[in-house]
Amino acid sequence: MTELIAPESPSIHSLQKPLTLPGGLTLPNRVVQAPCTRNRATADLSPSAGASDYYAARAEAGLLITEATLITPDAQGYLDTPGLFLDSHVAAWSVVTRAVHDRGGRIFAQLWHTGRISHSHWSGCQPVSASAVLDPILRRQAGANTLYNEMPRALSSDEVWGVVALFRRAAQRALDAGFDGVEIHGANGYLIEQFLRQHTNRRDDDWGGSTAGRSRFALEVVRACLAVWGPGRVGLRLSPAAYFGEMQWREGDNETYINLLQNLAFEAIAYVHTGVVEDKFYAELGATSSAFLRQHWPGVLIGNGGYSPESAAQQVAKKSFDLIAFGKLFLANPDLVPRMFARAPLLPYTAETMLGLR
Ligand SMILES: Cc1cc2nc3c(=O)[nH]c(=O)nc-3n(C[C@H](O)[C@H](O)[C@H](O)COP(=O)(O)O)c2cc1C
Repeated sequence: MTELIAPESPSIHSLQKPLTLPGGLTLPNRVVQAPCTRNRATADLSPSAGASDYYAARAEAGLLITEATLITPDAQGYLDTPGLFLDSHVAAWSVVTRAVHDRGGRIFAQLWHTGRISHSHWSGCQPVSASAVLDPILRRQAGANTLYNEMPRALSSDEVWGVVALFRRAAQRALDAGFDGVEIHGANGYLIEQFLRQHTNRRDDDWGGSTAGRSRFALEVVRACLAVWGPGRVGLRLSPAAYFGEMQWREGDNETYINLLQNLAFEAIAYVHTGVVEDKFYAELGATSSAFLRQHWPGVLIGNGGYSPESAAQQVAKKSFDLIAFGKLFLANPDLVPRMFARAPLLPYTAETMLGLR
């Protein structure tokens, strides 16, 4: 029998307060479903028939963010991850957004280019990145085959604009599919972070070579999505702590993030969202990624990474961040929000949850 997680005693009242995003979208509470890859897309990389039930079951969240969604087939790096690059994807996602809206929810699509983490096994082409720097660590299984990362090639300057245009086109498809906005996946070691970091961006053209150069791609993608969506409907996920995908933090990287955040203050984005973990480098300094972002970002901030309802509520009450995204707890508890607010026990995240056996 599954063991339940008994709620701790402190109040979670701060999570129950509504919040209006810049641009006017009101979230009825502070709880966000973190984007979580499910590897269940169909053969043409549409969301599966079960996706509408999966998302609608979580519609009590203040905001749902979809699993990472490919802006181009060239970016596929994992099994059965959905896309937003075909008209059939628009039709399939429309079913999901309608189901969420019918249950009173709000849903943003997370737009994704994996860069050097894509794999020719799925994409049929060599991975691209800011520079030709291999991730020698990450591997994954494709049936019986272990896939090792492939050496990426550096995008030409014109090709970088081409990828910006792909983000814009996917943002348009998200609008056509009835989403409430988009989140740009700038975290967890994928293409945008590959441009932000000195470890993976060795360029000396306008897309690298300086803090402004390294932050430029992220900024242009944000602008391209805002051009489609308008104010308050575009979020950006960032992981300044350099954690996932063999990312390495270098002296000077923080300045790139600060430069980006300063420039973002002039753009009408909905929020900045902390990626994956709060600890690692910043923990050693007695701080967290969201504390770093809070220091340099005056707008709405979503915290994430290892929080319980109680610890998240304390941080929201202290204004460390404004919203909290739950990943694993939301996978394990579709009814996380009503359970949490009723102070009912929560189911733990297990391997079975991940595989969708429960
Ligand atoms: C199964 C799984 C899939 C994930 N897929 C994504 C993803 O597609 N996009 C993303 O930005 N983060 C992804 N993440 C990271 C989560 O959004 C979140 O940052 C992480 O689980 C930490 O939050 P938690 O402690 O509340 O689970 C994934 C995490 C898990 C466990």
